Amino acid sequence: MSTKLAVPSKSFTPPANTARVLDETAVRRVDKSGAVEHVKALPDQVARGHRLGLGLGPLAADRRATIVGMGGSGIAGAVLAAWLAAERGLFVAVVHDSRLPAWVGEDDLVIAISYSGNTLETLHATREAMTRGADLVGIASGGTLRDLCNGHGLPFLGIPGGMMPRSAFGLLFGGLAALFPGTTADVRTAAEALRVRGAKLAPDVPDAKNAAKKLAAKLKGRTPIIYGTPTYAPVARRWQAELNEYAKVLAWASVLPEADHNELVGWAQDPAAKSFAPIFLRDSTESDIERKVMDATRDLVKGKAKPEEIRAEGPTLLARMLTTIQLGDWTSLYLAVLRKVDPTPVAVIGRLKERLAKG
Ligand code: F6R
Repeated sequence: MSTKLAVPSKSFTPPANTARVLDETAVRRVDKSGAVEHVKALPDQVARGHRLGLGLGPLAADRRATIVGMGGSGIAGAVLAAWLAAERGLFVAVVHDSRLPAWVGEDDLVIAISYSGNTLETLHATREAMTRGADLVGIASGGTLRDLCNGHGLPFLGIPGGMMPRSAFGLLFGGLAALFPGTTADVRTAAEALRVRGAKLAPDVPDAKNAAKKLAAKLKGRTPIIYGTPTYAPVARRWQAELNEYAKVLAWASVLPEADHNELVGWAQDPAAKSFAPIFLRDSTESDIERKVMDATRDLVKGKAKPEEIRAEGPTLLARMLTTIQLGDWTSLYLAVLRKVDPTPVAVIGRLKERLAKG
């Protein structure tokens, strides 16, 4: 197994005080609720979530499956679906909405995933699935989704509670993956790759050797735009979400080649382009066309902003996708510390949910 790290480009020299700013003490001073422990725990979470999920069995075997979920929960479904499509040729629909596509019916399996179990959109889509007679599985730490499943005798995967949903990604992903047959070897390999990489990104690793600390220092004061191929699109979206929620900055995820047919013009001609930080997520299994597109786009934006390339490395596609997510998680946490913002609270999302609940 490769032990190399997914590293940003080497040309960066971090500010002299980055090591002091981002050591364990400095992280804990800003990180009041201990988000760092959850970021560290990603490898164990993936393995544990998968073990829990195996208890339900491969419920998605030979079925058309639709995964319904929002935010930090829904992204687990999107990453899994992208991997299953690329590696297994399997179509799994992912819905980040309160409405199900019209084609979902009684032959379908709907997997509702919501860490809190109380997200309005997910619950609405879940009830719609029940009305249509679809088979249903719930994944949550509790809440209304658990009550709905238990009340109707439906399969339910209980995930340990007490975290922010985004910090439970590994548990949610591992548990969800276990519902699809034949995923165990890949998930175990990925968990091992995450262990190896995680040790190289933790706060005790000095800045000069820590890819996440270096990247965080480069992103401070710039707005990241993360590019991925369609397979890496959910990985890019997870980067965006972690930058939004841990570091409290605006960030965007974008998909190539599509972005070359519109967004590229903005890079060429918008005077604001220099305030953005383009990040390209690269994989060794890119097709010839994908490689050409990525290389050409990177070179075209070079004149406006300094592009970062993250070259995912690992023994399998799933290991590369998840270790790239891990690098984004650590980078976002360090950026929060550099910005002196507590990574855990996302008060505005709570306020929005309260308002929607009243409506
Ligand atoms: C908060 C977070 C959010 C939530 C989203 C849906 O950490 O990541 O994106 O995941 O608001 O809530 P849940 O996951 O409870 O269904």
